[in-house]
Amino acid sequence: MKTTINQVYKHVGEEVTIGAWVANKRSSGKIAFLQLRDGTGFIQGVVVKAEVAEEVFQTAKTVTQETSLYVKGVVKKDERSPLGFELAVTSLDIIHEAKDYPITPKEHGTEFLMDHRHLWLRSKRQHATMKIRNEIIRATYEFFNKEGFVKVDPPILTGSAPEGTTELFATKYFDEDAYLSQSGQLYMEAAAMALGKVFSFGPTFRAEKSKTKRHLIEFWMIEPEMAFVEFNENLEVQENYVSFVVQSVLENCKIELETLGRDTSKLEQIKAPFPRITYDEAIQFLKDKGFDDIEWGDDFGAPHETAIAESYDKPVFITHYPTSLKPFYMQPAPDREDVVLCADLIAPEGYGEIIGGSERIHDLELLESRLKEHGLESDAYKWYAELRKYGSVPHSGFGLGLERTVAWICGSPHVRETIPFPRLLNRLYP
Ligand code: 4AD
Ligand code: MG
Repeated sequence: MKTTINQVYKHVGEEVTIGAWVANKRSSGKIAFLQLRDGTGFIQGVVVKAEVAEEVFQTAKTVTQETSLYVKGVVKKDERSPLGFELAVTSLDIIHEAKDYPITPKEHGTEFLMDHRHLWLRSKRQHATMKIRNEIIRATYEFFNKEGFVKVDPPILTGSAPEGTTELFATKYFDEDAYLSQSGQLYMEAAAMALGKVFSFGPTFRAEKSKTKRHLIEFWMIEPEMAFVEFNENLEVQENYVSFVVQSVLENCKIELETLGRDTSKLEQIKAPFPRITYDEAIQFLKDKGFDDIEWGDDFGAPHETAIAESYDKPVFITHYPTSLKPFYMQPAPDREDVVLCADLIAPEGYGEIIGGSERIHDLELLESRLKEHGLESDAYKWYAELRKYGSVPHSGFGLGLERTVAWICGSPHVRETIPFPRLLNRLYP
């Protein structure tokens, strides 16, 4: 019976065949232990000299790391392994012998591992991280489908720059200038006026010269947008969404979280509602904490965000930032011109901002004056302004950065491990 490692629980006591790679191995004169992986998981294969043909034991003793093979064995319960099962091997058929696999069980430097990312992905921690990334994506679709959202795909090649013109990847679109999308938001606003509640999931690009553990050049964003939804209702959708995703990972990725050594008690507390503080309160809080340099009007850096997040065991919304710090499209607060109806969601444990969102300007005149202030009077925004001409309504949305969310849930030190092939300031390879 041919099966996979994640299905062996259905075959206890039976002999099965699994196509696998040798991740690691240990042996003595009488017994060999093979750490086998097949993509679905990891299992230990036990080869007992006295119980198998001479050549099977010989193969087990000499097989090299990452050699591919068909393994035949009897599935046994094993309480000590994370999977709960092991394989009493009966035969080993090598498919392809791997010679001198570069990533050995010893420690390697980060640059070496990044140069071998195409192979590093096979390692246990990387495998677990990709499985959790996949679960976050799966739970995202489940959440928004259950809440009545329609998935809409905005374009990647655009003429507009929603998040400011300094970080654009410019390219030629035949004779025209074009950019790789920084955010699908403007298009999602058009889609919300057609379909009500929409969400997108796609790659976005920022030519940011930042070399931090939270910045990628290419990252994936989930961007919901909702017609007739105002500022506070938008926050409720965000806290319910993030809670749903975290609880789904806890439920469906137990082995992966254990592989990563993640403290799950911290994740278990992630349930809506999340605390909210205003930018004004955050500034006062930081001053009280001894951040003497910070002034009203300054943006927060990573140390500020971490200091604020440390006071909470859940993500915290920082709301009502100064208008001057935020993009052109945000709705001003009704009682104050100098702040906007926006919120950043800051993850706990120092993982930083995972969501940026806001209510959008729905008044045509106000939008036009904001575009002017930001030097964006180009034809590229004509269609966007036009959305305010025909039955304009209050609407809100947000963008969740997938990689930062994966980093937080996995407890990864750096976003480069949360995407299969990271695009970093100095890295386009592999
Ligand atoms: O705060 P940002 O720039 O917001 C927008 O792009 C809005 N247009 C979204 C919307 O309202 N539809 O980006 C949203 C999130 C951030 O909170 C962060 O999680 C992530 O995207 N992000 C990055 N992740 C990795 N590397 C980068 N360089 C990132 N820049 C933003
Ligand atoms: Mg932001």
